[in-house]
Amino acid sequence: MEICSVTFLPDNVTVKTEPGITIAGAARLAGIELKMPCGGEGSCGKCVVRLTKKGTTEELLACQTIVYEDIFVEVPQNVRLGEHQILLAETEQNFQTKYDFEPLCQKVAVRLSPPSLYENASDWTRLSCELSKAVGGKEVVPSLPVLQKMAHLLRKSDWHVSALLVAQNGFYELIDLQPGMATETIYGLAIDIGTTTIVIYLVDLVSGKVLGKAGTYNKQAAYGDDIITRIIHCQSPKGLKQLHDAVIDSITELTEQLLATSQVVGSKVYVITVAGNTTMIHLFLGMDPKFIRLDPYIPTAAQFPIVKGKELGLETTPEACVYCLPAVGSYVGGDIVAGVLSTGMNWADNLTLFIDIGTNGEIVLGNKEWLISCACSAGPAFEGSGITCGMRAMQGAIERVEINPVNFEVRYQTIEGTPPAGICGSGLIDCIAKLHRVGLIDRAGRFCELDKPVERLRKTDEGKEFVLAWDWETALGKDITLTEGDIQNLIRAKGAIFAGIQCLLKTVQLDFSSLERIYIAGGFGNYLNIADAIEIGLLPDLPHHLYRFVGNTSVRGAYLSLISQTALNAATEIGKKLTYLELSAGNNFMEEFISALFLPHTNLELFPNVKSTTVVRGGNSD
Ligand code: FES
Repeated sequence: MEICSVTFLPDNVTVKTEPGITIAGAARLAGIELKMPCGGEGSCGKCVVRLTKKGTTEELLACQTIVYEDIFVEVPQNVRLGEHQILLAETEQNFQTKYDFEPLCQKVAVRLSPPSLYENASDWTRLSCELSKAVGGKEVVPSLPVLQKMAHLLRKSDWHVSALLVAQNGFYELIDLQPGMATETIYGLAIDIGTTTIVIYLVDLVSGKVLGKAGTYNKQAAYGDDIITRIIHCQSPKGLKQLHDAVIDSITELTEQLLATSQVVGSKVYVITVAGNTTMIHLFLGMDPKFIRLDPYIPTAAQFPIVKGKELGLETTPEACVYCLPAVGSYVGGDIVAGVLSTGMNWADNLTLFIDIGTNGEIVLGNKEWLISCACSAGPAFEGSGITCGMRAMQGAIERVEINPVNFEVRYQTIEGTPPAGICGSGLIDCIAKLHRVGLIDRAGRFCELDKPVERLRKTDEGKEFVLAWDWETALGKDITLTEGDIQNLIRAKGAIFAGIQCLLKTVQLDFSSLERIYIAGGFGNYLNIADAIEIGLLPDLPHHLYRFVGNTSVRGAYLSLISQTALNAATEIGKKLTYLELSAGNNFMEEFISALFLPHTNLELFPNVKSTTVVRGGNSD
């Protein structure tokens, strides 16, 4: 069969392939990861590459263009999975933790008295008795390889041995036995599997110290930006395997990088804890998530078995025991359980609201007495998707905007200060708050009719748009604009989160004034400007000191569970205790949502501080 060569630029990497593959498929073969927000359906228009053949160049969608001859493909920077701002850690919060240091894997040294004609219990009976005493009376069960070498090893080491114990459900498994007092360190990994990014901590299980942290893209992004697109991809032949392999590949690469930096060998990693949303955990474990998106939205499981790394394909850490934090339901997963665990809201006296803002907004309300949660689909606007010039929070993304209230000139700030390539979620919120504040948009998010023309506000065939950056300023040589459609998308996203908060509070017959602490979690939340988020009606109009950014609480929860069995048990308890409120069933979510589709809300009394600062301009500002 004829073979085609596809050369990717500016990388200058060539792959040889049979005709019939898409450019996106060829890029994958070449090790070039493209952003594929719609999973290659051809509907998002974001995977545009420049194709050169026989002296002509044209712009085409990588996911829809079939290779049938030799071509050169230029992949612009904004189409690549680039350096996302990956939140490796929790913020500098002094969360108090009441969980004792009791790692999931421990090394215990014991000394036995030799057997005699009068003390003639078996070697294992005598050893297990000593080991059990050392671990607070819990049962210890031996693995077969340990039993096979035990008799000789005990005698050679003069009855002084070190045992390697791994916590199982309610007991310990003895996985290795070494002579004398073994001094080598043992390690564990705490992993956060996010829909967009993956973060791993390498932990010394003797001291509990985090030796290294690393983050990367979840390679599943090549099959779609959001979990629904990925679940749909699972239904294609090999779809589930592709998504499982993608997440395992991402974890393996990151683990290898962390181990190499810390000069640790993979065989010394004995335990791994994993937190992630319910779909991510299904895909990680190779379970079909199909029914998560179908009414009545049922996951295969909410608690997961302890498995070995090799069963999942984790080749770098094949013998490690892998523990996944429990989920609450299809849309409130182990990452949220980890968030509750790490903020300590499950033992707080204060009424606390926890919000993880992303494609799905997951919200938990409660204290040590009770916890209730819900998830609302905010859509991808906060991730920069579904927005004309939207992009993720990466280099070149506009993240802050100022608009002069007199001449409407714009000043912006981009991530890493490079020329703008688009606008990310925090920039969007900032921009819409400022457009509203200076009176350029009304409360429904429509551009106002003004007395004088504004150079940056123009009409196109699709409607009005506001120019944030002119073509000569930008990295792409095109204007960066915000359309009325973009503003509507963001208003729907913020409306869904706010309506979710309202539903939870009303379900327990409380209101905003009852809230004593509000935690904002997740990568996006960390870059949020509280004043702007309140101004557009995303967050309740409450004193700013009640708000705290808590960063990546998912990886912190996984870390706590790794170094403390009490914390892991608490995570299980949280999973059981958290009541899940299904917003699509028998409550007033739709009413709340519709009421929230204004800036900041139809009921201005809910936003007294915003009400007092709103500028009214033109004829349709209300
Ligand atoms: S159009 Fe190609 S990934 Fe969406």
